[in-house]
Parts: sequence; structure tokens; C-alpha cells
Amino acid sequence: MRWPTKNLGKERARKMANINAGVLSTGRAFPEGVLTNADLEMMVDTSDDWITTRTGIKQRHKAGEGEYTSLFAVRAARQAIERARIDPSEVDLLICATVTPDQLLPATACLIQAELGAHRAAAFDLVAACSGFIYGVTLANQMIRAKQARYALVIGAEILTRYVDYTDRTTCVIFGDGAGAAILGPVESERGILAARIRSDGRFAEQLHATGGGTRLGTTAQTLNSGLHFYKMRGNELFKVAVRSMTDISLEVLKEANLTPDDIHLFVPHQANQRITEAVADKLGVDSSRVFSNIAMHGNTSSASIPIALDECVETERLHDRDLVLMTSFGGGATWGAVLMRW
Ligand code: UT7
Repeated sequence: MRWPTKNLGKERARKMANINAGVLSTGRAFPEGVLTNADLEMMVDTSDDWITTRTGIKQRHKAGEGEYTSLFAVRAARQAIERARIDPSEVDLLICATVTPDQLLPATACLIQAELGAHRAAAFDLVAACSGFIYGVTLANQMIRAKQARYALVIGAEILTRYVDYTDRTTCVIFGDGAGAAILGPVESERGILAARIRSDGRFAEQLHATGGGTRLGTTAQTLNSGLHFYKMRGNELFKVAVRSMTDISLEVLKEANLTPDDIHLFVPHQANQRITEAVADKLGVDSSRVFSNIAMHGNTSSASIPIALDECVETERLHDRDLVLMTSFGGGATWGAVLMRW
């Protein structure tokens, strides 16, 4: 395994007038529990064939009793911190992108911070559903470029299976649990993040939502009995918006960097559905050899999917020094975004 050696010495980084921010290292963690398509066949009216052809998913991780979001976030973050060869106390910014926090208060990011000993960091949660990691990287990029932070830890971590209704076949076959993390820091100006954009449109809010448990519909016996704390998704409608939004925003970041889809070495989209990945790659004109997919093994892990994917790309040597990587995501909100990076 080869880890990026872009971790600049403090002196060198200080001397750089125009710094960029880049990913210095990554990490990932999953619960041991696995739910296969065969398991789901015994729970709802579905089939391995339907799930495989419509989503590309073969299995997903599922947290067991006593397991919670920050447990996996901390494991992924520790790997990333060690691989960046920094001390937790050097992290200035800690963003945990999640829609499945450990608890209502405080932020899961603060619980992670305490566990890691990242005591100097400003830590907060970011709720942008599946686009959370891309949102977090976009913010961290600006903080590093503005020299408000040297090292940022951006985590995407979810225990989605807690909010999945295992009698609803339209959602329970999709979602899985896991965590991914990245340390971002200063890199030379011709590498790192070349362009980043994030967007949202609340008019699509009802296409993927969980209405119970907040201040509008607090947790009551009635909301629990009606399953209002579970995710409800109008998948078919979201599918089309997802393909359009990810394609458009990918083209925007490429244009901003004066590059084209032909320049991309690796396309790492949010792992929502294999058919969405293929449709976006097709519209961009990126052939399948340049598209990363791990959805078969993990399902849709929302904000965790891109950092998990990046970590697997590094481990399997699909990412090489100075490769041009395009990441894009789409999620509930609706939210979407894209980050173009010279690795
Ligand atoms: O993470 C970011 C946000 N999420 C997304 O972007 C998800 C986007 N959407 C999707 O991935 C897909 O829309 C799904 C995988 C959720 C659904 O696939 P689809 O091809 O859009 O199916 P559909 O909703 O149009 O349903 C087609 C049929 C329906 O039956 P009828 O009405 O044609 O008889 C469904 O009831 O498939 C049925 N169906 C299933 N059948 C077997 C729906 N779910 C299942 C299932 N097993 N699990």
C-alpha cells in the first residue's frame, strides 16, 4: 500500500504564497455485520436479481446493538491522522458530515474530537445528506486557503440502518453503514483541489425525508407507531434529478478549471445506485475503466460513500500521483456538489 507523501513540512508550507488544499490521507471503517441480498429476500418481497440489476448492490454493512456512528468515525479518522503523520492536536477543523448523529446534542464531531484528542479543533456536524463529505471538503478547502486552518479532518459517517424500515422494500435494499475520513492540508499550488461547488434545492425536500423526531413532529408513541422516524424516498423521481444535477455540476467544475471529461483519470461519484453512476459517466463521456464503483459491497452509505471510495482507491492503487480525480454527489435536501482534485 502506498500513501500520498504530500504532507509538507511546516516551514515549507509557510513559505508557499499561494497554497491549495488537498487530501493528505484517508481512512475507513465498517461494522462487522453484513446484510446480503439473500438475507433481504427473507425479510421483504424482493430478490437478489431485482436488487442487483436495479442498484448494483450485493451486500451492505449493518451496525449491531451497541454500535453507533462515532465509533466508526473515530476508527476511520485515526487511520487518516496516522497516515498523514500528524498529531491529533494539529487538527484545526473537524467536520463530521452525518444525518445519523450519535445523539441530538452535542454534535457528533465534538464526541469524535474528545475521543481523538483533537482538542484545538473547531468541531461541528454538517447535515447535507449524501453530499455531506463534498460540502465538508469544499468548506475545508476555503478555510485552508484562507489560512484559517492548516489541517482539517473531514469525516462522513452514517448508521443509516437505524432509520431504515425493513418492511419498506424501496429503501431497505439500498442503505448501509460505514465511515470514511480524510485529512486535508496545504499542498503545492498546482495540485490539490482545483475547483469545488456545492448546491441545494429545498423544493425536493419531500423526495427523501424522515419527518418524525424533530421539533415539528416530536417523538411520540404515535410518530413511532406510524414509522415517521424512518426514511421515506421517492427513488424514481430522485434518480432523474440526481443524474442531471451530478452531470451539470461536474461539467461546471471542469469548466472552471479549464479541463474536460477527457482529462479525468478517475471518476469517484457518490455510490447511490450503479445505474446512476453509469448514467452520469455516460453523459460526461467518461468510459467505465475510469469510473470507481464499490456499491456492490457497501450499498449506499450516504455521506460516507466518497471518503470510503477514496480510501479504497488509494489502497488498491487506482489513484496515482497527480491523477485528476472528479468527485460528485447528490442527496436528500436535495443537495449536490462536485470537487475536482489533482491527487
Ligand atoms: O443517495 C442519494 C439519494 N438517493 C438516490 O439517489 C436514490 C435514487 N433512486 C434509486 O436508486 C432507484 O429509484 C431505486 C433503486 C430506489 C428504485 O429503482 P427504480 O428502478 O427507480 O424502481 P421504481 O421505483 O421505478 O420501481 C419499479 C418497480 C415497482 O413495481 P411496479 O410498480 O412496476 O409493479 C416497485 O414496486 O419495482 C418495484 N420495487 C421492487 N421490487 C423488488 C421497488 N423496490 C423493489 C425491491 N424489490 N426492493
